[in-house]
Amino acid sequence: MLNGKAILLGVTGGIAAYKAAELVRCFGKLGASVQVVMTAGAQQFITPLTLQVLSGQPVCTDIFNLDLESEIGHIHVARAAHLVVVAPATANVIAKMAAGIADDYLTTVLLATTAPVLVCPAMNVKMYEHPLTVRNLNTLRDIGVHVLEPGTGYLACKEEGAGRLADLPLIVETVQRLLTLPSLKGKRILVSAGPTWEPFDPVRYIANPSSGRMGYALAAVAARRSAEVHLVSGPTSLPAPAGVHFHRVTTALEMQDAILKLAQDMDAVIMAAAVGDYRPEQVAPQKIKKEESEMTVRLQKNPDILRALGRAKSSARFPILVGFAAETENLDQNATEKLARKNLDFIVANNLTQAGSGFGVDTNQVRIYTREGMREDLPFMSKEEVAEQILDRVEHLMTAAGHEAF
Ligand code: CTP
Repeated sequence: MLNGKAILLGVTGGIAAYKAAELVRCFGKLGASVQVVMTAGAQQFITPLTLQVLSGQPVCTDIFNLDLESEIGHIHVARAAHLVVVAPATANVIAKMAAGIADDYLTTVLLATTAPVLVCPAMNVKMYEHPLTVRNLNTLRDIGVHVLEPGTGYLACKEEGAGRLADLPLIVETVQRLLTLPSLKGKRILVSAGPTWEPFDPVRYIANPSSGRMGYALAAVAARRSAEVHLVSGPTSLPAPAGVHFHRVTTALEMQDAILKLAQDMDAVIMAAAVGDYRPEQVAPQKIKKEESEMTVRLQKNPDILRALGRAKSSARFPILVGFAAETENLDQNATEKLARKNLDFIVANNLTQAGSGFGVDTNQVRIYTREGMREDLPFMSKEEVAEQILDRVEHLMTAAGHEAF
């Protein structure tokens, strides 16, 4: 979340300038205030009025504006920002930044600010690969400017290659990371997510409706706090969050293999996956034909991955183990039994029969049980907010002496 954060968005004159409108909306939706600064070139592609309406603030374009500049507005604007984002950043503005030129509102603010700066280049592939642009970007990196590599693909100039403005979700995620305290720096966190698919012929499987959203939110928030994150995911339709090590698996056995290989080096393991408890005993080599009027598929039990981790937990402190319990009845009893059986530090339980909780929705209402016998109800919130709460508690356990109650 970006509540209380002030973002200065510098828009320069490339065809991707129209995407600035959506960026302003995204930052605003996350709670940030956005001050837009446009170059003369940018105004050829999108009007200041559009960005003014979307940001709810006057757009800065003219350093010699008598009204806005009566109190040296550009210095105030430069000081007020927690983060400056230049998106899209043309080869021209990158060159000016690297040379320290301040000949318009944006380049002046860029020299005057002490806030971190994120540059998102967008240009023709030949311009991007030109040795001067490469050198200029390296100069910016050397002085601590963050550069988000452009995407690769078909460009507006009808050439293929690197130069497309990075995808907006990636820009938003990078901005969130730059505005988040690196409280998990140096920590390694494994998160599992999604369902598993247990096949019984080459085209059919047994699964569950887990969307993976809770686990992906945990991975994204942990990465934002600068943890080294490993996300082991069953099949989902979600894109891998930026900056995480992504391990794609299909079955519970594959998930077990991936997790057991990684777990011993982790500071915390959070099992948000809805692991299939059973798998078909036989997997037919060819598609099963519907010849019989009935069909029986015999199932055998899958290993309980979290229980195995709980048994193997080598010290009283690490890795911290967090489980989930999705229940349709007897929440307290089932969750506390799982907590003890799997030797967890805490378990996050939710009631699947409650509207807006559990599988396939963006929200969740959970109850947390700790090994010390504490029980805490969290209010109804987004899965990303639940992820923040869970990781706050993981961090607390990492810093507390021993495992005290939070
Ligand atoms: N889990 C696991 N391996 C399994 C099944 C579950 O690691 N084979 C993990 C889940 O990721 C979750 C926790 O154990 O963090 C509890 O999962 P849940 O399905 O609620 O419980 P089960 O132990 O499978 O018990 P039951 O199905 O009887 O409720």
